[in-house]
Order: sequence, then structure tokens, then C-alpha cells
Amino acid sequence: MSVGRRRIKLLGILMMVNVFIYLIVEVSKNSNPEKNAKGEVIIPKEKFWRISEPPAAYWNREQEKLNRKYNPILNMFANQTGDAYGFSNTSHLNYCEPDLRVTSIVSGFSSLPDRFKDFLLYLRCRNYSLLIDQPNKCAKKPFLLLAIKSLTSHFARRQAIRESWGRETNVGNHTVVRVFLLGQTPPEDNHPDLSYMLKYESEKHQDILLWNYRDTFFNLSLKEVLFLKWVSTSCPDAEFVFKGDDDVFVNTHHILNYLNSLSKKKAKDLFIGDVIHNAGPHRNKKLKYYIPEVVYTGVYPPYAGGGGFLFSGPLALRLYNVTDRVLLYPIDDVYTGMCLQKLGLVPEKHDGFKTFDIEEKNKNNICSYLNLMLVHSRKPQEMIDIWSRLQNVHLKC
Ligand SMILES: *[C@@H]1O[C@H](CO)[C@@H](O)[C@H](O)[C@H]1NC(C)=O
Ligand SMILES: *[C@@H]1O[C@H](CO)[C@@H](O)[C@H](O)[C@H]1NC(C)=O
Ligand SMILES: *[C@@H]1O[C@H](CO)[C@@H](O)[C@H](O)[C@H]1NC(C)=O
Ligand SMILES: *[C@@H]1O[C@H](CO)[C@@H](O)[C@H](O)[C@H]1NC(C)=O
Ligand SMILES: *[C@@H]1O[C@H](CO)[C@@H](O)[C@H](O)[C@H]1NC(C)=O
Ligand SMILES: *[C@@H]1O[C@H](CO)[C@@H](O)[C@H](O)[C@H]1NC(C)=O
Repeated sequence: MSVGRRRIKLLGILMMVNVFIYLIVEVSKNSNPEKNAKGEVIIPKEKFWRISEPPAAYWNREQEKLNRKYNPILNMFANQTGDAYGFSNTSHLNYCEPDLRVTSIVSGFSSLPDRFKDFLLYLRCRNYSLLIDQPNKCAKKPFLLLAIKSLTSHFARRQAIRESWGRETNVGNHTVVRVFLLGQTPPEDNHPDLSYMLKYESEKHQDILLWNYRDTFFNLSLKEVLFLKWVSTSCPDAEFVFKGDDDVFVNTHHILNYLNSLSKKKAKDLFIGDVIHNAGPHRNKKLKYYIPEVVYTGVYPPYAGGGGFLFSGPLALRLYNVTDRVLLYPIDDVYTGMCLQKLGLVPEKHDGFKTFDIEEKNKNNICSYLNLMLVHSRKPQEMIDIWSRLQNVHLKC
């Protein structure tokens, strides 16, 4: 027998063994399905799978609907004319009348604190527009875009940031630009009218972005979405973005050095900050971060504390892309964590982000600021003081 023939014979034997094994498996599988007296196989009358109950908390339930709407498998069967599962239905993005359904759907709505009522009533509106824009801010491609959440009345904080860590610079063609993110503080909320001063400030410094929505704590996730939209349209080439509060000190030198040292691979999906894992909603009514059970249940995804975090420009665009698929949440840094999770990303903890401040005994030692990214909180005068001492610190540390 030739070698070729012997191979064919071996192959034949192997095939027969396979068929034999298949037969044994099939016979044993069919030997004991449930049968009735006549020996017929019983077909289950009721459904034998289980669909999980819709979540009780309002936010979770509505988010699940949204997940279904954006589910690509379910969408294979939906058509484009805007049926319940179609991509084209964006009623969760620009329905700006108060959504009165929540008053009956959310149990105990009338006894919720006002900020929750407002949040739930206007949850489906986010198409607010810019009243003050800086369309040319990024005309020259920025290496780092500093975006600082502020409130109209915080003139001194903004000025201190301009004079210290938030300076617009261009060192070695690495452009740093700055914008402050503001909403409106309307007279209905008993705010004094500071609009003329803001207008003057904006003309002088050209770093104010002002949107026409009420600037409240629970609207900060709206601020996040509107900012990411602005990056996508007006600053899409920024290499990196820092977003933070106006009461933090940022060591911009250190951040620039860090960014310059990154590999291309690491830079692409960069998202670093003071990352919190396995946190959940606070149930103590007295806390700023209190969230009632009727609004949200479950753990939060990993998220970087909103005092300040650093991420790549391309990631900002991807984040904006995914914001349509995540309902606004009352706490903005948690919201950003939810968007990252949708992208399959996990923010990375970096020890340089001191959102809970540094030890009291080190606060006055300028050397403790040399290798940190951010520290919370600092007053305007402290920002200017730390910054000016940092300029010639290298000689002494
Ligand atoms: C698409 O949806 C519309 C409105 O829901 C419906 O009238 C139409 O029959 C659907 N078309 C197809 C092809 O399923
Ligand atoms: C869009 O979805 C909402 C519920 O999410 C529904 O009430 C509305 O009728 C839908 N609109 C269209 C045009 O299908
Ligand atoms: C958002 O869009 C909706 C529908 O087009 C419109 O009725 C509403 O006035 C818009 N809201 C704002 C704040 O522009
Ligand atoms: C900065 O860019 C300009 C024009 O692109 C170039 O002429 C100059 O050499 C660059 N400077 C540095 C320090 O790289
Ligand atoms: C958010 O802003 C909108 C638009 O100004 C306002 O109607 C709503 O009450 C605000 N929500 C909260 C929670 O303050
Ligand atoms: C945004 O999403 C669309 C559709 O899913 C995709 O085509 C586009 O490339 C995305 N853009 C970015 C910047 O991720």
C-alpha cells in the first residue's frame, strides 16, 4: 500500500469513529425527554424562559429602555421611520416641556426635594444653545485645552486661574488654551444680575462659554454633555483636555511634562484622575450627593472625581458620541463614568490628583506641589501664591 492510500484508510476509520460517537450522543440525548402516557414528548405550555422584571428605580428603568433602543440586534428588526426601537427617535434629547409623566410614575414625587423634581421634569432636554461662544479658541491646534467649570459670580476664582495655573501659553509649539464653562444664574433663582460684568469679562479675556440653561449642581451633567459637544464642533483637534473645578490648584507644568512623556498608545485612550471604584448612591438625605431609591439603585461604574481629570482629545469626541445613549444623571462625574463604561473603558487612578487635599503639615511646603497634578481646594490668593512660588522652586527642592 502506498503512503497516500494508507492515509485515506486512516481518515476513513477516523470518520467512522466520529459518526459512532455522534450516534451515541444523540441516542443518549433523546432517551429521556419528558413524555406523557402515550409516549409523546411534552411540549411546555408556558414560556420556559424568564424576562427579568424592569428595574423599580426610575433612572434605571428609563436607561434600560434606552439600552434596548440602541441595541444593534433589536435594531436589525426596527425600521428607520422612528418606531419605538429606532435610532431616529431622539425624544430623550430634546423634549423640553416639563415631562409631567414623572409626577405619577415616580412614587413619592411630590415629597422629593425640589432639585430632584427639576431634574426629573427636564431630564429629556439637552439641546441648549450657546449665548457666549469662543469659536476661534482652537484656531491653532491646542496641545492642552483647560476647561474649568465655574459660576457667573466666581469672578475672582476665574481671574486667579488666568493669572496662575490657567495661563494660555505656547511653549515649544505646545499651545495651552483655556475656557470657563458657565450656565445661567437667572433672577428667578434670586441671583443678582451680573450679566453686564460677565459680558465685559468675556470681551476682555475671550475665554467664557455660556449656555442658556440653569447652572445648578444637578445640571452639571448637562454642562458635561454641552462641553463635549463644543469640543466636537469647535475644538476637535485638541490633543488633551483637562476638565475641573474653579477651586482647585493645578500644576500645569507637571501635567505638560507628564503628557509629553506619554507613548502614543497610552495617549490615545488616556483618562486619569482620582478614580473611585465600587461607590454607590448616598442614601442620607442631608448629604449633597443624596440620591433616593426611587431615582437610582445599583453601584456606580468606576469614575474620576469631578474636581479634575485629564483625558485625550480623541476620547472626548468618542465620549460625546456616546452621550446620547446615557440618560443625564444628577452627579456629573458619575455620569462621565457611565459614558466611559459604555465605551468599554475604565478611568485610571493617578496619585497626583489630590481631590481630598494633602496633609496639613505639607500645605505650606512648596516642594509638595512640585510633583502633583491637582489639589483641592485652594482659594484665589492661594492659587496665585503657590503658582508664583513654583516658578523657581527647582532650586530648593
Ligand atoms: C415601519 O414603521 C412604521 C411606523 O411604526 C410602520 O407603519 C411601517 O409599517 C413599518 N415598516 C416596516 C417595513 O416594518
Ligand atoms: C419616541 O419614543 C417615545 C418614548 O421613548 C414615545 O413616547 C414617542 O411616541 C416616540 N416617537 C415617535 C415619533 O415614535
Ligand atoms: C429643543 O428642541 C425641541 C424640539 O425641536 C424644541 O421644542 C425645544 O424648544 C428645543 N429646546 C431648546 C432649549 O432649544
Ligand atoms: C513652531 O512652529 C513653527 C511653525 O510651524 C516653526 O517654524 C518653529 O520652528 C516651531 N518652534 C518650535 C520650538 O518647535
Ligand atoms: C436644568 O436647566 C434647565 C434649563 O434651564 C431647567 O429647566 C432645570 O430646572 C434645571 N435642572 C435643575 C436640576 O436645576
Ligand atoms: C461616532 O459614532 C458614529 C456611529 O456609531 C461613528 O460612525 C463615528 O465614527 C463615531 N465617531 C467617533 C469620533 O467615535
